[in-house]
Amino acid sequence: MAAIIAIQITERAKQNQSFVLGLATGSTPILLYKELIRLHREDGLSFANVISFNLDEYYGLPADDPQSYHEFMRANLFSQIDLPPHQAHIPGGVIPRDQVPAHCSGYEKAIKEAGGIDLQILGIGGSGHIGFNEPPSDERSTTRLVSLDPITRRDAADSFSGIGNVPTEAITMGVKTILRSRQVFMMAWGENKASIVARSLQESPSPALPATQLQRHPDVHYLLDESAASKISQ
Ligand code: PGA
Repeated sequence: MAAIIAIQITERAKQNQSFVLGLATGSTPILLYKELIRLHREDGLSFANVISFNLDEYYGLPADDPQSYHEFMRANLFSQIDLPPHQAHIPGGVIPRDQVPAHCSGYEKAIKEAGGIDLQILGIGGSGHIGFNEPPSDERSTTRLVSLDPITRRDAADSFSGIGNVPTEAITMGVKTILRSRQVFMMAWGENKASIVARSLQESPSPALPATQLQRHPDVHYLLDESAASKISQ
């Protein structure tokens, strides 16, 4: 995955063009980010021509909160590569409620003005979410404020030292935003992802299981380890 990204960034740089990368948070992309950092340090991969857009942010967490996705991205990637800070975009966590619609349409506009997302990295949650598109999220959805599914909040409980501390809302790119990306790479590791991965591939596309809607994308790739792939029927 890191090699695929590195090649595309480098090709664009040779043409003096930017590469628009959609980024994810959570445990799944950490190894990818470690490898991108290694490529930057050891092979001179530059992110100077990259424009990034993160999928989502918890609503209510300021950027410097240790649990915010702003902080996750700073710690796990941005502080260790040469991506110019003004080229990295993450939905705001503390936008006043009455300004959220304008913030969300501004996020969509910024993606369009950057030329659209070239490659979107995704993980999948136990609820079947992509980004924080919880069930039901349909293919017309764009960046917006959403309520988090109880499964999502339960899965995050440990890292927040208890479910009561997990935010109840988030701002996320929509299913439509994700489906507009030119290429999508869904990554999943481990046995606890096996059921939801199989369902996302084998059930008909439906807002009730948002990840199934990736089946409508013309250039989507699943990167799975054996455990995560173990429940897909042949
Ligand atoms: P994880 O989360 O990478 O921490 O498993 C994935 C997701 O919820 O999208």
